[in-house]
Amino acid sequence: MAQYARTKGSIALITLTNPPVNALSSAVRKGITETVSRALNDTQVKAVVLCGENGQFCGGADIKEFAKPMSGPALVPMIHAIEAGEKPVVAAIEGIALGGGLELALGCHYRVAHAKARMGLPEVTLGLLPAAGGTQRLPRLTGIPTALELITTGRHITAQEALKLGIVDKVTDGNVVDAAMEMALSVIGRPLSPRRLSTLSTPPLANLDGVFEAAMAQVKRRSRGAMAPVACVKAVRAAAELPYSQGMKRELELMGTLMSSGQAKALQYCFFAQRAVGKWSLPNGAQWNNSRPRDIRTAGVIGLGTMGRGIVVSLVKAGISVVAVEMEEKQLDLGRKEVTGILERDAKRRGVTAPLHLISFALSLQSLRGVDLVIEAVFEDMELKKRVFADLSRVCNQNTMLCTNTSGLDVDQIASVTDRPPLVVGMHFFAPAHVMKLLEVVCGPRSSAEAVATAMSLGKRMGKVSVAVGNCPGFVGNRMLKSYMDESVFLLEEGASPEQVDQALEEFGFALGIFKVGDLSGLDVGWRVRKSSGLIGPDVNPTFPSRVRQGRRYCPLPDLLCEQGRWGQKTGRGWYLYDSAGGRVARPDPEIQRFLQDYRLRYGIPSRRISEQEVVERCVFALANEGFRVLEDGMAAGPEDIDMVYVFGYGWPRHRGGPMFHAAQVGLPRVLQRLEFYYRENPDIPHLQPSTLLRRLVGAGSPPIQQWKQYIRSTHSQL
Ligand code: COA
Ligand code: ADP
Repeated sequence: MAQYARTKGSIALITLTNPPVNALSSAVRKGITETVSRALNDTQVKAVVLCGENGQFCGGADIKEFAKPMSGPALVPMIHAIEAGEKPVVAAIEGIALGGGLELALGCHYRVAHAKARMGLPEVTLGLLPAAGGTQRLPRLTGIPTALELITTGRHITAQEALKLGIVDKVTDGNVVDAAMEMALSVIGRPLSPRRLSTLSTPPLANLDGVFEAAMAQVKRRSRGAMAPVACVKAVRAAAELPYSQGMKRELELMGTLMSSGQAKALQYCFFAQRAVGKWSLPNGAQWNNSRPRDIRTAGVIGLGTMGRGIVVSLVKAGISVVAVEMEEKQLDLGRKEVTGILERDAKRRGVTAPLHLISFALSLQSLRGVDLVIEAVFEDMELKKRVFADLSRVCNQNTMLCTNTSGLDVDQIASVTDRPPLVVGMHFFAPAHVMKLLEVVCGPRSSAEAVATAMSLGKRMGKVSVAVGNCPGFVGNRMLKSYMDESVFLLEEGASPEQVDQALEEFGFALGIFKVGDLSGLDVGWRVRKSSGLIGPDVNPTFPSRVRQGRRYCPLPDLLCEQGRWGQKTGRGWYLYDSAGGRVARPDPEIQRFLQDYRLRYGIPSRRISEQEVVERCVFALANEGFRVLEDGMAAGPEDIDMVYVFGYGWPRHRGGPMFHAAQVGLPRVLQRLEFYYRENPDIPHLQPSTLLRRLVGAGSPPIQQWKQYIRSTHSQL
């Protein structure tokens, strides 16, 4: 777990060996403690070099150990022994030095990094803080503002930035261990005191209070309700105001609170869930490790609306040549301008050249003949999509994969008009597609393993979190969203206001409340979908009650709003009022209050006071309830898949783990009991009826989320 070798006569080389990232497991900590002590006691040894095997210095604490009782030597005294020792220790940083890995390096007297190495203190993203002295040593090295920024964001930095910030002493393109050895030999005999970070003071800073107040305000704004960033600011403040030993006490105390919090558990669950969703499988036994993805070098994108443009940008940024096709000259020009602008701004920010040479624009599908894969992003209309796919089938090479960016239409029906259903999958991106991290890969019943593998791996290349989902209306994300959205408007009928619902959801941690999201994306979009699916318009039987459709409760409020031209931000009025069309600052609108009152009067709905608890429970538990149904129907492989869809695609607060994890954390019996209560009160809302899987899990004693899959009895799983 840590190998010891003596080289160049007087250098002890200690190598961390714990693949794949040399995480600081109990065995590694024991190994380091023993080998460092051996080096310090060996009179032949004059200096020490610390490195990691397989090109990785160290990925930090072993996250798997967090759930277990602590065993083996602790990190803090181990690092302290290195720093306090009388022989210079040089960290040779290759690959990564993250979390405890960087803290270990900060305990060394010198740091040499390979030019491609990345460093950072990402503990905050796991609901923690760097508690092996990171919050105390880094500010002493870089100054407070830099340390605050790095620790509260968890951002990874390059070796070049680390050099600029003084975090490393040297960067090399060559062999980093050789460079560290050279440095070790050159510093033998030099005084070590100035190199012991814990003994230094933090660089003085004018307006200390102002800096910390601004940092606190910023973290509270950025990560609503998250505890870890707040604790990080407090810990760095301790470094600024207290002697090192007291600062360390504060660091430990703050870490204690975080470690036992539900938020840390949720964030650590997300870390593993994000990796688990890449390990997809299909019912025929094909899976991530036995199916080869195709090598995609060229792609076509059809339709340059918001979605198509974002998809083109993401493909090009992944180094893929793209042919972008529109049907109208004007749209093509608009699309070209927008795509070029995004790529140029992005390149400028990163100080590189925009890869514009990778894109060509065309007005005919014929230009897609030779591409490896096509992503269709035309209007959300089945007949149009079928026409496009039939054309593609004729135009493209026999081997070209055909993907649709539909947000909920039947992928198999689209595949059925082609000559190659096994090569058709859904690639459902989220707007704006060059920003949002989620990709739902929709596996139709006839999609081949190769096609699924290719879409999953292409998504990863594009920087997305790809989640394999089954082919049902709305797939996973939008299918579940329907119950969440329905609940929000039912709450308006019963007495709530849009701002009250939004405030409760934002307090819960959503980036934006549901009504603000609606205004942002345009209320007319859903209106058009409801019209085309016959929920409103001439197809509705006029003798039916207005608030019932297809045997269940229906809320016409969004339709009434659209009829008044209140389409959201784009018209300056929606659930909220904006300064002008396209305005972004939402203000409550007294007209909406009157509109809601009139509506309740017209339908004889008594208005009642609705608590924040009811808002959150009805919206969030309805969402999770549908999630259980998705699992039971075999449309998602496990709760992790659903949770990652929500965290990366729907602004779900990561520190609450995702709707399924949240249900587990609240306690399944409680979720069941509340759903039963709300369903009793609202028997015309079927999505409040507790799902079979939820009942079965509660009946089985509410097993941990990792065991839920054993209780799913899907007879027609698509995953
Ligand atoms: N503890 C335990 N396991 C870890 C780990 C850690 N600190 N870091 C990575 N792993 C595991 C992953 O779970 C994954 O396991 P799997 O193959 O069984 O799924 C494997 O190592 C590879 O990680 P992955 O993230 O898939 O590889 P990558 O090359 O894309 O990224 C890292 C590598 C190190 C950048 C990334 O894993 C990471 O950010 N790790 C966490 C670092 C961290 O936060 N450290 C501080 C802990 S407090
Ligand atoms: P979004 O990307 O937000 O879903 P739209 O639905 O407005 O936005 O975008 C669809 C785009 O697809 C439009 O720019 C439209 O011109 C284009 N489009 C529609 N049909 C075709 C077609 N047959 N070939 C190429 N482009 C098409």
